[in-house]
Amino acid sequence: MFKNVLDELLNISLNDKGDVSVLKEEPIPSDWDASVFDKSFKKRLEYALERAKKIGQGSSRVVFEIEFEGRPTVLKIAKNGKGLAQNETEADYGLYRMYPDITVPLIDHDEEHDPPRWIHVEKADKITTIKFRELTGFPFDYFGFLLNDREDDREGKGKYAKKPYMYTNWEAKVPEDIREEIRESELFNDVTDMMGNFDKPAGDFTAIQNWGVYKGRPVIIDIGLSSDVWDTHYKPKPKPQPVGRW
Ligand SMILES: Nc1ncnc2c1ncn2[C@@H]1O[C@H](COP(=O)(O)OP(=O)(O)O)[C@@H](O)[C@H]1O
Ligand SMILES: [Mg+2]
Repeated sequence: MFKNVLDELLNISLNDKGDVSVLKEEPIPSDWDASVFDKSFKKRLEYALERAKKIGQGSSRVVFEIEFEGRPTVLKIAKNGKGLAQNETEADYGLYRMYPDITVPLIDHDEEHDPPRWIHVEKADKITTIKFRELTGFPFDYFGFLLNDREDDREGKGKYAKKPYMYTNWEAKVPEDIREEIRESELFNDVTDMMGNFDKPAGDFTAIQNWGVYKGRPVIIDIGLSSDVWDTHYKPKPKPQPVGRW
């Protein structure tokens, strides 16, 4: 108790203007032993499991709920190289500033390690396709089809493809009046803008598991995958060619 009070006093001081400012950020969560993040993934996971509730898991991160300033928040711990790469893409404050309406705010990230082993974000509520429709007015699958359609257009595939084997027509799966409604929505414009600017594949955003609800809006909770992460961590590597004799 006394140590906590002392820590607080050490971390808060008066700046020139006389305002209280926080000088040093505590590692999150503040009562955790930060050095555990220097240890193996197994040790880190064991440690986190003893202290926090696990609320989710994907292919690359284990996700915990932790209390922060009196509210439930989310800690995402990387479990492999892909998780580190995803944490690195998600620990980009610029991304949240550009797209505040379709993301959950980033609170903090592991600054001791590069790439970050954990990131700390706000907690989103669960979403279903029914809830998505209630919030936006259009069905989630149609929204996804038009994201795929936009990606195809950008890549010269899909309905304008020159090569027959590249021909797909996602747009045709969506009734015309709904196409317009979706394409005019702020949500569609924000998501396609992010896909273009941050080189993100549509496939990530067409899965409902990667969405949540925050402040009454549908938001993307897994924005870690970029084509760059895909290239480094998923794409099959070409086999090294034997050096020929001559
Ligand atoms: N901000 C969040 N709020 C609530 N739940 C979350 C949040 N981020 C992740 N989750 C939960 O954890 C799961 C895995 O997280 P995700 O970011 O998709 O990890 P991965 O990169 O391994 O796929 C999600 O499907 C979701 O259930
Ligand atoms: Mg995921």
